[in-house]
Amino acid sequence: MVTAAPPVPRVELAYVPTPLGRLERLSRELGIELWVKRDDLTGLLETGNKIRKLEFLVGEALAAGADTLITCGTLQSNCARAVAAVAARLGLRAVLALKGEPPETYDGNLLLARLLGAEVRYVSDGEWEGIDGVLADLAARVRADGRVPYVIPESGATVTGALGYVACGQELAQQIEHGAPDFDTVAVTAFSGGSQAGLLMARQLFGLRAEIIGVPVAWEAARVRTYIRELIAAARSRYGLGVEAPEEIRLLDGYQGPGRASVRAEELEIVVRVARLEGILLDPVYTAKAFGGLLDHIRRDRRALGERVCFIHTGGIFSLFPFRRPLSRLLDESGLVES
Ligand SMILES: Cc1ncc(COP(=O)(O)O)c(C=O)c1O
Repeated sequence: MVTAAPPVPRVELAYVPTPLGRLERLSRELGIELWVKRDDLTGLLETGNKIRKLEFLVGEALAAGADTLITCGTLQSNCARAVAAVAARLGLRAVLALKGEPPETYDGNLLLARLLGAEVRYVSDGEWEGIDGVLADLAARVRADGRVPYVIPESGATVTGALGYVACGQELAQQIEHGAPDFDTVAVTAFSGGSQAGLLMARQLFGLRAEIIGVPVAWEAARVRTYIRELIAAARSRYGLGVEAPEEIRLLDGYQGPGRASVRAEELEIVVRVARLEGILLDPVYTAKAFGGLLDHIRRDRRALGERVCFIHTGGIFSLFPFRRPLSRLLDESGLVES
């Protein structure tokens, strides 16, 4: 894939290949084989799906002579923290436009981003409506300082970013070739759908047999589908990849809850349950919603996704810490999360 003409700039940032592990107790409970691909282990600070996207985004930034990475997101943005970590690792500057008020004390991803030296511009809800203008302004200021900016949209959601998950799918195909189970279904959390788009492209390019399904955690399904189609078309025209958007883009819809901004007790319960049952930490904002949706779907119909299902854990655990209060309450309630 990276040898497609013209060559695609890439910086190696993720510690890969990420391991595959079978979830023994959940598999027994569900009556299928449930596996997890540990993309939460792509690094410590460089954890999760963002770092795979950043290999290509930062590759493009460096090829363009950039020395300052600019991005945006929520106060607990995983992408913003990953950008801050990569900037520190490569000797670049990071400027983050984050939606919210400056907090009294830093926590979770924001604490790490500040610790890693990122500058933060807090963006009000009103300003967020025109976030592209805010990013353009920040880029202009960086230029006025004689530096070269590179803007990464929220969640690294560009065709270049999606190449990171083409690489993830290629890696999975190689793992299967070397003896990992030939999964019937690969499931991934979908915010923008960029990671799922990358996996769908990898399926065509590297002969993965598995169905690729996404679990939307914020946007409605139609919006995710449209975005995935656009990305695949853009990958074809921009990078010359021999890929087509599939007729059917499969999403497990209805697990968004009230959206990304709010986390309910049930997401925290899934975090606790999976931690105790399998020793794996999900994050309440993204992966707990998606994994909870996946479990619910399989429980309703054991055969719906086949006998061997792999969930790609896209990371994000630092956003757990700002939930310490509701989590503490939950942990102190008796009778919770019996397996
Ligand atoms: C932990 C985590 N998982 C999944 C996603 C969704 O990624 P995508 O925008 O590629 O669908 C995000 C991005 O926001 C994330 O932070």
